Amino acid sequence: MIKTNNISNQEIVLEIKNLHKSFGDNHVLKGFNMQLHQGENLVIMGKSGSGKSVMIKCLVGLIEADSGSISLMHKDITKLTQEALDTLRADIGFLFQGSALYDSMTVRENLEFPLRRHKAKFSKHLNTEALVIESLENVGLANAIDLMPSELSGGMKRRVALARTLILKPKIILYDEPTSGLDPITAKEIISLMQDIQKKYKTSSIIITHDVDCARVISDRMILLIDGIDYAVGTYLELSNNENPKIKAFFKH
Ligand SMILES: Nc1ncnc2c1ncn2[C@@H]1O[C@H](COP(=O)(O)OP(=O)(O)OP(=O)(O)O)[C@@H](O)[C@H]1O
Ligand SMILES: [Mg+2]
Repeated sequence: MIKTNNISNQEIVLEIKNLHKSFGDNHVLKGFNMQLHQGENLVIMGKSGSGKSVMIKCLVGLIEADSGSISLMHKDITKLTQEALDTLRADIGFLFQGSALYDSMTVRENLEFPLRRHKAKFSKHLNTEALVIESLENVGLANAIDLMPSELSGGMKRRVALARTLILKPKIILYDEPTSGLDPITAKEIISLMQDIQKKYKTSSIIITHDVDCARVISDRMILLIDGIDYAVGTYLELSNNENPKIKAFFKH
């Protein structure tokens, strides 16, 4: 076995066990398991409709799972009070599929929004201006602060969305399709930005993607979500060399 890093020795910051979620007769997740280690880039791949976004929404509490356990920093999130949960959630950044900026707000207002929502963590920052600027500088867009989303290109929108995620200084970042809809060059820029952020803030990340190049470049480990479960787990090299046709299908160009 080829060992590319020692990630598996690191502390587990996020763990999902036996997650089930159905919508009526549509059994989307049928016992999904996952472990995210400190500092790790974990890529999740799966066909469209396989339940990747549903899984990540269960993680952040946007969707309630039917059963299974989710622990964050060793705390079972189903057993926490609302207040404790909100505090913990401020440590998780979520980059939504698409960019999901508020169209009627400027870039600055879009970035201030999460600061207002998580007041407790940022009450000491009376002036949010510095945080907004720092966050935009991280994505190379400080000069776009007063623009409206309609004035931004697709790549710029994705950067602003990333800046909005970073402003909360999350310990864990969940990226849902960070490069989809972007041209290959812009996609590469976003990937290298994600790598810079990981180095600078030592974040742990889950990256949902269809983009095999993105997976190859960024992943420490990968999970293939097939038939509602964590069907295959391993490094890019291990999985891309696997002979199982269901696994092979992901790596054919
Ligand atoms: N709120 C919801 N109510 C009912 N069904 C839902 C809901 N959200 C998702 N689903 C269903 O769950 C399944 C998985 O959807 P999900 O969005 O997780 O797919 P995905 O793997 O993220 O796909 P994609 O790669 O296209 O983003 C789909 O069949 C979808 O129709
Ligand atoms: Mg999705």
